[in-house]
Amino acid sequence: MSAASRCRVCAGTVQEFFDFGRQPLSDAFPRPGDTADEFFFRLAIGMCDGCTMVQLMEEVPRDRMFHADYPYVSSGSSVMRKHFEAVAERFLATELTGPDPFVVELGCNDGVMLKVLAEAGVRHLGVEPSGGVAEMAAGKGIRVRNAFFEESTATEIAAADGRADVIYAANTLCHIPYIESVFRGVGALLAPTGVFVFEDPYFADIVERTSFDQVYDEHFFFFTARSVHAMAARYGLELVDVERLPVHGGEVRYTLAPAGSRRPSSSVVELLAEERAAGIASTATLHRFADSVQGIRNDLVALLARLRQEGKRVVGYGATAKSATVTNFCGIGPESVAFVCDTTPAKQGRLMPGSHIPVLPPERFADPYPDYALLFAWNHAEEIMAKEHAFRDAGGKWILYVPEVRVV
Ligand code: SAM
Ligand code: TMP
Ligand code: ZN
Repeated sequence: MSAASRCRVCAGTVQEFFDFGRQPLSDAFPRPGDTADEFFFRLAIGMCDGCTMVQLMEEVPRDRMFHADYPYVSSGSSVMRKHFEAVAERFLATELTGPDPFVVELGCNDGVMLKVLAEAGVRHLGVEPSGGVAEMAAGKGIRVRNAFFEESTATEIAAADGRADVIYAANTLCHIPYIESVFRGVGALLAPTGVFVFEDPYFADIVERTSFDQVYDEHFFFFTARSVHAMAARYGLELVDVERLPVHGGEVRYTLAPAGSRRPSSSVVELLAEERAAGIASTATLHRFADSVQGIRNDLVALLARLRQEGKRVVGYGATAKSATVTNFCGIGPESVAFVCDTTPAKQGRLMPGSHIPVLPPERFADPYPDYALLFAWNHAEEIMAKEHAFRDAGGKWILYVPEVRVV
């Protein structure tokens, strides 16, 4: 029997299609010996039978996830740094050519994108509730407001700074269950000629690659062109452009503008047609996805059990938020993955959420190299495998589990 909940966009019925069970907060890394009061919730995902928006069945209170100790730092990947610099350069060349343009970024994190605009002298504001990363942004000379973006924040910004030519959010809008308040805020803040641009993991890519580990507490929504098109229309906005992005395992950048203000590009109609042809909102697709997820779990658990029996040493690479879903859903602990190495100082010396696998600095990877490395940061595979080429040269092997379990 599957559960149902109320859609956070249209109030329709959300039908559950996968239950990952009891899961911890994906970005809460407890100190050794400090695991008694870990927070757990039921991680399950469903699709609205009204507007097709894919969403979590249960919401985690936002202050539990986004606070002064939120450990994710956007500049941690050189590929992502380049990605965001290119975003800023594109805005400078397109949307920000008028007199005194104004840009607001939701979830600016450590300021990786806004830094370029600040240096170009563009009037800007980052809205970032996580105090630690907000401070890092401020340290780079970026104007930051340490708050959650919602309707009240937006009206205050509009009153103080005027309307925005660009409102931008990367890997942030999908984190916000109270999306209605965000859209009302965008309505109050966006200039009539402005654009609301956001990029997030694309549900069609998640299904195609069975990248089930994109499902965790912070990722509340999983967008498609169809669901975003319908959502935009509820708030007097129109989807005028979509662009597929290779980052984070497949994303889409959606551009919304006040309805009728811009001519939608052909890419919108094309992606909507592609989604229809792929049956992305069909029950059969969701069942197939659920079967594939179970298959990956079985294969990964079997592989790790065999390696353990053979006495091989396995470590993890990248203490990603995604890896919380994998380790907890598959029951992977320190007995099969000795430790996980990660470049983020705030994660080092801590334990992985729920599984309590220790997190160590990347220097420990080669000290000595393990037989196998389970690549939790598979979305950064190219960057990491290039950097760690000596591991392969020394006979080490990578274990990947998306789109299927394989050793390379
Ligand atoms: N934009 C960066 C990137 O793409 O690397 C950061 C993404 S990070 C995964 C999500 C960010 O959204 C966090 O820094 C978090 O604090 C922020 N956030 C969460 N809720 C928010 C809200 N209501 N308004 C603004 N930012 C929010
Ligand atoms: P993400 O998948 O959410 O971007 O998180 C990537 C994690 O992997 C983050 O904790 C930083 C870590 N990481 C490394 O340890 N080494 C690397 O080379 C890269 C790119 C990321
Ligand atoms: Zn709905």
